[in-house]
Amino acid sequence: MSAILEIVNLVKYYGTKSNITKALDGISFSVQQGEYIGVMGASGSGKTTLLNCISTIDMASSGQIVINGRDITAADRRSLARFRRESLGFVFQDFNLLDTLTSYENIALALSILKVPAPEIDVRVREIAHTLGISDVLEKYPYQMSGGQEQRVACARALVTKPSLVLADEPTGALDSRSATALLESFSQLVHQRQATILMVTHDAFAASHCDRILVIRDGRLFYQIVRGIDSRKQFFDRIIEVITRLGGDDEEVI
Ligand SMILES: Nc1ncnc2c1ncn2[C@@H]1O[C@H](COP(=O)(O)OP(=O)(O)OP(=O)(O)O)[C@@H](O)[C@H]1O
Ligand SMILES: [Mg+2]
Repeated sequence: MSAILEIVNLVKYYGTKSNITKALDGISFSVQQGEYIGVMGASGSGKTTLLNCISTIDMASSGQIVINGRDITAADRRSLARFRRESLGFVFQDFNLLDTLTSYENIALALSILKVPAPEIDVRVREIAHTLGISDVLEKYPYQMSGGQEQRVACARALVTKPSLVLADEPTGALDSRSATALLESFSQLVHQRQATILMVTHDAFAASHCDRILVIRDGRLFYQIVRGIDSRKQFFDRIIEVITRLGGDDEEVI
């Protein structure tokens, strides 16, 4: 296995001198290809900031982000854009669907940009829609759907290109347990069948228990890691709950 992602001493400040927030405070870790990583931490601990820096939506103040051996903090915009299109899949905390496109079009767009032939686009959109249980909302616009449906469309859009690195911010936050399980299983499939790598922010120990390793972030730093090892999902779930309870006393405080 080789490191697909290496974060080295990453720092991110927001604001100006008089009103500054250190959202990331020298965080370092690395992720192997084919790992399914959960990122947990209290609200405001820096999880979204971390994902936004990796996805190049935001720029880190200092430190390095090395993806597939390339330092993306030093890469030029053109090759970054290409890399983003071809290798990354994102699921944002606020879904970020295009309002003027139907679900079908939202999902298909990423494939059209990659110049995938239309008949193949159709097959792939319908396949992922079936997996995530959104076949019946493909002709709807975002404003016509529930939050959970929008979230699943956003996930379908991220997964349809079969990216090698998926960055997902609370992908199960608005889902009922059946949809959440379907999504988490699609993620597992992507990891185990295609050696994809997933970094998933979650507050939910059930979602986290599908991962191989959990990074716990506190105040912009890597505070603790929980490795699944040979645990079953249920055993890992119990251990996550135990660690979270021990670390914070109060679940809400820590995750
Ligand atoms: N654009 C911004 N301008 C100024 N401060 C910001 C900005 N974005 C985030 N922050 C601050 O950076 C810190 C980390 O925010 P971030 O969104 O990464 O937290 P989070 O861990 O994703 O929280 P949540 O679980 O609530 O989504 C917070 O203190 C937040 O207020
Ligand atoms: Mg966030």
